[in-house]
Amino acid sequence: MRWETQGIGPRSRVFRGVIRPMYAGARSVAFRTIDGLLGVRTTQATSSNGAKSLDERPPNVSWGWLSLVRLLRRHPLGPTDVFVDIGSGTGRVALAASWMFRCRRVIAVERDPRLHARAVENLRTCRATPRTPIELVHADALTWDLPADATMIFFFNSFRGKEFQELVERMLESLDRSPRSVQFLYANPVEAEFLARSPRFELIDVVRSWRPRADWTRTTSVSVYRVR
Ligand SMILES: C[S@@+](CC[C@H](N)C(=O)[O-])C[C@H]1O[C@@H](n2cnc3c(N)ncnc32)[C@H](O)[C@@H]1O
Repeated sequence: MRWETQGIGPRSRVFRGVIRPMYAGARSVAFRTIDGLLGVRTTQATSSNGAKSLDERPPNVSWGWLSLVRLLRRHPLGPTDVFVDIGSGTGRVALAASWMFRCRRVIAVERDPRLHARAVENLRTCRATPRTPIELVHADALTWDLPADATMIFFFNSFRGKEFQELVERMLESLDRSPRSVQFLYANPVEAEFLARSPRFELIDVVRSWRPRADWTRTTSVSVYRVR
């Protein structure tokens, strides 16, 4: 699947200078309100307003609360599932999965000590009662061993290129050692072309949020793969 990137014309300047900042501002207010109701802090102070392209957003932004709930409703976790967020930031995705479903385990792996500490604090202060215990792991996902029973992996912009390929290799090795079917939920799938070349990744769904431009639509889409 290919998403187009559009050039920089007057319409692009309006998009970058007016539409996107307005949207980002409204979104930030909405997400802070949700954070406040839940008693957590998962919304970053930084925004993408100044970025030339949507892929230049700060590396620690979280996947949107509403898109997350929509995604997990469409791809729910069952009682035997083990959910892993690779590069989990302040823990928003893991928290949502644990509140929404009773499954075996929810694991959040984060390399940055400050974000990991924030996730620990969020877990302590959150008002919603988790249905599934969360394990917050402070580790580099590229040296951490994926649990042999992991069945659903969420990944949003943690890294790309060589590091992404290394993650894919580690995932496939884990499947070879412990054969099972895994769902890979890939948010903002910049490396989709790499996955399309692997016969072991089958694209089974694309969960899109509508946006006025193709590149914006890609950055707010989740490609769901069945991995064997
Ligand atoms: C875009 S954020 C996504 C956070 C979270 N998944 C969410 O949607 O709320 C990507 C995260 O990956 C983390 N990260 C980057 N490289 C990593 C690595 N090798 N191991 C673990 N975490 C990593 C970053 O520190 C950052 O918090």
